[in-house]
Amino acid sequence: MDAPVPPSAAPADPSAHRYDVAVIGGGVVGHGIAWEIRRSGRSVALIDDAPGSGASWAAAGMLAPVSELHYQEEALLALMLEAARLWPGFAAGLDGGTGAGQEGAGGTGYLTTPTLAVGADAADRRALADLRAVQQACGLAVEPLTVREARAREPLLSPGISCALDIPADHQVDPRRLLARIGALLRADGRFEAVPRRAAGLLWDGGRVAGAGLEGGGEIRADETVVANGLGAAELQGLPGGLALPLRPVYGDILRLRVPPRLRPLLRSTVRGLVRGVPVYIVPREDGTVVIGATQREDAPTQSGAVSAGGVYQLLRDAQQLLPAVAELELLEATARARPGTPDNAPLLGRVGRGGTGQDIEGLIIATGFFRHGVLLTPVAAAVCRELLDGPPDPRWAAFRPDRFSARRDSAQDFSPKDRTTA
Ligand code: GLY
Repeated sequence: MDAPVPPSAAPADPSAHRYDVAVIGGGVVGHGIAWEIRRSGRSVALIDDAPGSGASWAAAGMLAPVSELHYQEEALLALMLEAARLWPGFAAGLDGGTGAGQEGAGGTGYLTTPTLAVGADAADRRALADLRAVQQACGLAVEPLTVREARAREPLLSPGISCALDIPADHQVDPRRLLARIGALLRADGRFEAVPRRAAGLLWDGGRVAGAGLEGGGEIRADETVVANGLGAAELQGLPGGLALPLRPVYGDILRLRVPPRLRPLLRSTVRGLVRGVPVYIVPREDGTVVIGATQREDAPTQSGAVSAGGVYQLLRDAQQLLPAVAELELLEATARARPGTPDNAPLLGRVGRGGTGQDIEGLIIATGFFRHGVLLTPVAAAVCRELLDGPPDPRWAAFRPDRFSARRDSAQDFSPKDRTTA
């Protein structure tokens, strides 16, 4: 575990080395896992030809276990609450111990500012009241405000909103700054290697996973391999036979806008609205920009990353209904990316069983399918991966095993390698 690896500034040939851990996928989740694993003392290779350019590039960065609660997702809520509990320490570790609210380019943009949920019409008010009953039954803090109280806190909110709820525990981070921060810390670390290549598949050796083959040739050998490349996970060659990774793309359009100085601060809280039953959120950043998101569409765009005109229209229309000053902002960017959805909206996180043996396949951890919650769940995904490397994991998270959708777990051959990477 202590053998030196070349510093990433001089990566002559990463294939020539063996790493303790290879992480496939350089989004927020992959970076968070790589960071935590380096903190455990292990050497890490992070494999991605375009790190941070997928769903992480679009993400608004809401850390919102309370307002993201959906009916019948109590198991996921427990994971989200654990992530929220871990966030202050995770951010403080990255921000040099300073924790929430550190300003400037060096920080992660982690802020403990609260969230307001607001409804547009009477039906939205009823829907938010129904959800509040479920949130409170789960022990979550959601307090009704009068419209007057909400506007005293956020004077630019429309007087026409139908209701407001205070959600103090839902916070935010800036995913682009977070990625840049983790990336910079890792690159300065002599036992970390950034491998700017695309993984083609898993390598196998004696019945265990032994690293990753690279597209175009070459390989990264590792004692443990973490598959954290979002939707790309299901396309890897050499996945265990019989393992179903039922990932589907759920596209989201999201906007970034600049607030003119005369309107600052536009908001102090994140505003999560329901407008004629459709969610919209407005996330204010420290730098005078806001993020407005996000649509959810499962159509297949003609081009990867194509932004939907209808999606942009809907976001601006609904955000403006809640906050009329939105019309006076400068539109900087419209982005679309796909979130990695799963059938139960929960991640695929853990080791994979070797069918019929009660044992797990050695050398392989899956960490994907984070759907709407990748940024929030990053610290808990990282902690779970570290636990899996160190010993038995917390049994609470067995519900998220990545083989839970694999119907036939009774035959040893189900979980033999499907095909071997040609690399
Ligand atoms: N986490 C919010 C979204 O996926 O839109």
